[in-house]
Amino acid sequence: MAKKAKIKSAKGKLGVLLPGMGSVATTFIAGVIAVRKGISQPIGSYTQMGRIRLGKRTEARSPKIKEFVPLTDLNDIVFGGWDVYKDNVYKAAVHAKVLDKDLLDQIKDELKLIKPMKAVFDKNYVKRLDGKHIKKEKTKMDLAKALMQDIKDFKKANGCSRLVMVWCGSTEIYMEEAPCHRTIKALEKGLRENDENIPPSMIYAYAAIKMGVPYANGAPNLSADIPALVELAKKSGVPIGGKDFKTGQTLMKTILTPGFKARSLGVNGWFSTNILGNRDGAVLDDPDNFKTKEVSKLGVIEHILKPKENPELYGNIYHKVRINYYPPRGDNKEGWDNIDIAGWLGYPMQIKVDFLCRDSILAAPIVLDLALLLDLASRSNLGGIQEWLGFFFKSPQTKKGLPPQHDLFKQLMKINNTLRYLKGEELITHLGMDYYY
Ligand SMILES: NC(=O)c1ccc[n+]([C@@H]2O[C@H](COP(=O)([O-])OP(=O)(O)OC[C@H]3O[C@@H](n4cnc5c(N)ncnc54)[C@H](O)[C@@H]3O)[C@@H](O)[C@H]2O)c1
Repeated sequence: MAKKAKIKSAKGKLGVLLPGMGSVATTFIAGVIAVRKGISQPIGSYTQMGRIRLGKRTEARSPKIKEFVPLTDLNDIVFGGWDVYKDNVYKAAVHAKVLDKDLLDQIKDELKLIKPMKAVFDKNYVKRLDGKHIKKEKTKMDLAKALMQDIKDFKKANGCSRLVMVWCGSTEIYMEEAPCHRTIKALEKGLRENDENIPPSMIYAYAAIKMGVPYANGAPNLSADIPALVELAKKSGVPIGGKDFKTGQTLMKTILTPGFKARSLGVNGWFSTNILGNRDGAVLDDPDNFKTKEVSKLGVIEHILKPKENPELYGNIYHKVRINYYPPRGDNKEGWDNIDIAGWLGYPMQIKVDFLCRDSILAAPIVLDLALLLDLASRSNLGGIQEWLGFFFKSPQTKKGLPPQHDLFKQLMKINNTLRYLKGEELITHLGMDYYY
C-alpha cells in the first residue's frame, strides 16, 4: 500500500459561506436541510452518492466516497452568506421557484433563521441588479476588511471549527487580467486605491484567502483566477478552485465530446442555444455579462478535440453558444444542441439534444461537493489551485501555462486518484497487464 497523507479530523462544525444567496445557494441550503431530515436524497452529489473502486477488480471494494475519506457530516454544516437583497433564505427560495413550496414549508423555520449579511456590491459589474443591502465602506480594502470581520463574527457566533466559501453570486462583466492582478502587492495597492479592475468577487476571494478560508468560484468571473490571489493562496496554504459550475449544456458537452473523439468521429459544427428565465438569465441578458459566460462555455469543445492536432476531424468546427432570457421558464432551462458530425469517408450525420434541465437542481450538489472537498483539501494540507476539483467546473482553473482538462471521464479519474492517494490506496490506471504472454 502507498503512503497515506496526514488528514486532520473532520470533527466540529463547518461553516459554508456563500456570497450570493439566490437560486443555487438557496437550493443547496434547503436541499442539505431536507436530506438531514430524511425528507429527500442527495442525488447528483459525488461525495454523498458516488462510490470509488479500490484495489483489484476481484477485491470487490467500492465504498461510498463519504465513507472512504473523512468528510464533514451533513449535520455539522452551518450556512451563512451575503446578498444585495435582505430576504432570508426561505423568502429567497420561494422567490427562486426552484423547489416546491410544500418542501420549503417543511423546513421553513430553519430557512427563515438564515439571513444574508450586507454585500460588497457595485452595480458597474452587474448592471441588471438593484439591491440596497450593501456595505458602504469607502475603499475596496476597507470592504475586504469588513468581510474579514463578518467571517470572524460568523465563525464565533456559530461555534465553527472550520469555514469554506463558495461564490454563488451573479456573473460579473467580462474582465481580463490587469496590472493590479499580477502580484499581491499590486492587488493590495489596487484595493486601497479603488482600482476599477477589482470587482466584488475578487474582494470576497481576497478576504477569504487572507482569513485562511478555502474559496471556490461557481461563476465565470476572474475572481481568484489571477496571479496575485493564486500566489496568496499558495503562500498561505489555502485551497482554491474555479470557475463556473459545470451543469446543463456544458455537462452534456463534456460527456458527448470525449465519445466522438474516442471513436475518431469528425465534428463540423455545434450550435447551442438556451432559454432561461431566472435572475441569472436576466443578468446574462446584458452583453457584457454574457461575454464572461460565453468565454467560459466556448473553450470546452476545442480543448477536448484539439483541432490543431486533428485538422482532418475538427479543423473546420463551427461552435456557437447563445443564452436567451425568457421569463416564463424560470429556473427550468431548456438547452438545445445541434451537432453536425462526420463518419466514414466524411458522410455527414446530425445529433439533436434537447435537455429540459433544472439549472439549480444540477448546481446545488456541486456546491455541497466543493464545500466538503475543499475542506478535506485544507485538512490534508493542500494549498493553492486544486486542479483535481476541475470535475465540477466549466472552466477549470489551472496553473499558468497548463491547459485545462475538460473531459469529464479524465476529470473523474483525477478526482478518484487524488482521493486514493490521500488515503494511501493504489492508484488505478486501468492498465491491466495480464493479456501479455
Ligand atoms: N444554476 C446553474 O446551473 C449555474 C451553473 C454555472 C454557474 N452558475 C452561476 O452561479 C451564480 C448563481 O446562479 P443563480 O442561478 O443562483 O443566480 P441568482 O441570480 O438566482 O443568484 C445570484 C445572487 O447573487 C447575488 N449577488 C450578486 N452580486 C453579489 C455580490 N457582489 N455580493 C453578494 N451577493 C451578490 C444576487 O443578488 C442574487 O441573489 C451565477 O453567477 C451563475 O452564472 C449557475
